[in-house]
Amino acid sequence: MMRRWKQAAPVLALALFLSGCAKDAPQDALDPAGPYARKIDDLFDPVFLVAVVVFFLVQGIILFAIIRFRRRHDDDEFPAQIHGNTRLEVGWTILPAVLLGVVGIFTVPKIFDLTDTPKVGMDVTVTGQKYWWAFSYPEQGQYGIDAPIITANELHIPAGVPIKLELRSKDVIHSFWAPRLNGKHDVVPGRIHYWNLEADHPGVYSGQCAEFCGTSHANMLLKVVAHDPATWDQWVAQMQTDPTEPTSGLAAEGHDLFQQKGCAGCHRVAGQWEEASPDSPPAPDLTHLFTRDCFAGCLYDINDRNEVEAWLRNPQRKAGSLMRIGKLTEDEIDRLYAYLRTLE
Ligand code: CUA
Repeated sequence: MMRRWKQAAPVLALALFLSGCAKDAPQDALDPAGPYARKIDDLFDPVFLVAVVVFFLVQGIILFAIIRFRRRHDDDEFPAQIHGNTRLEVGWTILPAVLLGVVGIFTVPKIFDLTDTPKVGMDVTVTGQKYWWAFSYPEQGQYGIDAPIITANELHIPAGVPIKLELRSKDVIHSFWAPRLNGKHDVVPGRIHYWNLEADHPGVYSGQCAEFCGTSHANMLLKVVAHDPATWDQWVAQMQTDPTEPTSGLAAEGHDLFQQKGCAGCHRVAGQWEEASPDSPPAPDLTHLFTRDCFAGCLYDINDRNEVEAWLRNPQRKAGSLMRIGKLTEDEIDRLYAYLRTLE
């Protein structure tokens, strides 16, 4: 048994080691894509290097001691018993303390640096809730600050611009984390926290809730979509335009059904269904639903019709989903889908 373990140990160790490797990992904090994440990475690299040196030093000394002072076959003598060594103990107390002090000298200013609100930049309000993210863009509102653009699960930003996030929670503690753009920050009910974000280049950066918040904590994903100036203006213009209300066919029937089934009580669609409060969306704003890639906490692909229909059949497929909708017939699902499809 012992021998088999000895044979398996290196393989297990290697498997564990290799499990840390991934090419193009989407949430790799060690591959920063913006100045805030880079500040953290710049700190991580040298500290990690020092940690590796300390690790091998300590492990090396342990190995040396084990081998050099091991019991030999002809060795029957009881070793000399030592009780403490003041000089050594003082040494291995002071040395790590000095080391941590040096790390602290570099870390503390960065902590202040990261929480500093940039002088210029764009404001976005982030609302975490079970189990999805709402993003509200007050400066881009069509009718000023009272009617901001609102998206769900996808945070759209211009690349190269510092983004000032105002973090709020509607229920429990969540944590906003887009690893390639900045570290994580708690989102606490009853409090407003500020956090920054910036992407160097256009691209899509994934993230997720990083604080256990309930059954679907692991399904509370998000995407940060960074645009170049031209596509950013395009996106804003599109968001500021209300989708056309369907007047005939399946989509128009779905539009009516949207109210009959109570959807409009929670979901806002700009220019069509305004019952739901825009400041505090209890359910994702669906105004431009089909300009997004994902829905339901970014868990499902919006462009896969089967996923959308499966959701309408049973929103509880995402554990803990707060969406309540009665049993729909397949015919009703077709009509609702036809309507949702017009929300571009
Ligand atoms: Cu929200 Cu975990």
